[in-house]
Amino acid sequence: MDSHKRLLFNNQAWVQRKLEARPDFFTRLADNQNPEILWIGCADSRVPAEEVTGADPGELFVHRNIANLVIHTDFNALSVIEYATEVLHVKHIIVCGHYNCGGIRTAMSHRYFGLINNWLRHVKDIYRLHAAELDAIVGEERRLERLCELNVEEQVHHLAQVSFVQRAWQKEGRPMLHGWVYDIHTGLLKDLIKVNPGQLPHPTYVYEFPED
Ligand code: CO
Repeated sequence: MDSHKRLLFNNQAWVQRKLEARPDFFTRLADNQNPEILWIGCADSRVPAEEVTGADPGELFVHRNIANLVIHTDFNALSVIEYATEVLHVKHIIVCGHYNCGGIRTAMSHRYFGLINNWLRHVKDIYRLHAAELDAIVGEERRLERLCELNVEEQVHHLAQVSFVQRAWQKEGRPMLHGWVYDIHTGLLKDLIKVNPGQLPHPTYVYEFPED
């Protein structure tokens, strides 16, 4: 069976299983969603958010892109973050990277890939920011792993620099920000960094809001 046909076939079996376990599984979610978590992950096929966390439909609001980046001019990611923060009022935003990330590996290389070089240039900036630490690491694979971690931490800092995230902190005392990395070899998630609501970034990025 073609791989795309297998997906449709599997979908029918999945619906049956869910309904057998819980007859109202779909109807209870049909009208609205109330996820407490925004997941920002890599587009890599090996890191499906719900699968690796055991989350059910309705639990995660998800945005994925190559190398799990939060870029200040990316209206796609910013729209997701704004909606999750201001409309869904999520309690947590998790940036989840992963080891052996093709995007990070490509960013460490000098290969020409066209447009994607521009996207991954943001990761090169992170390398430059942490060049002293990264260049001191012996072995390219270990250096790659560390850059995967540093990339996650930088993206969490980017989230803390977003004006409407700071506004939500001031108004509602949430969301909490988290940086995790997924180990492709073991399936385990590792907690790298946590930023509490109100834990402001460097003063350069701090915004002041009018009373409302
Ligand atoms: Co990746």
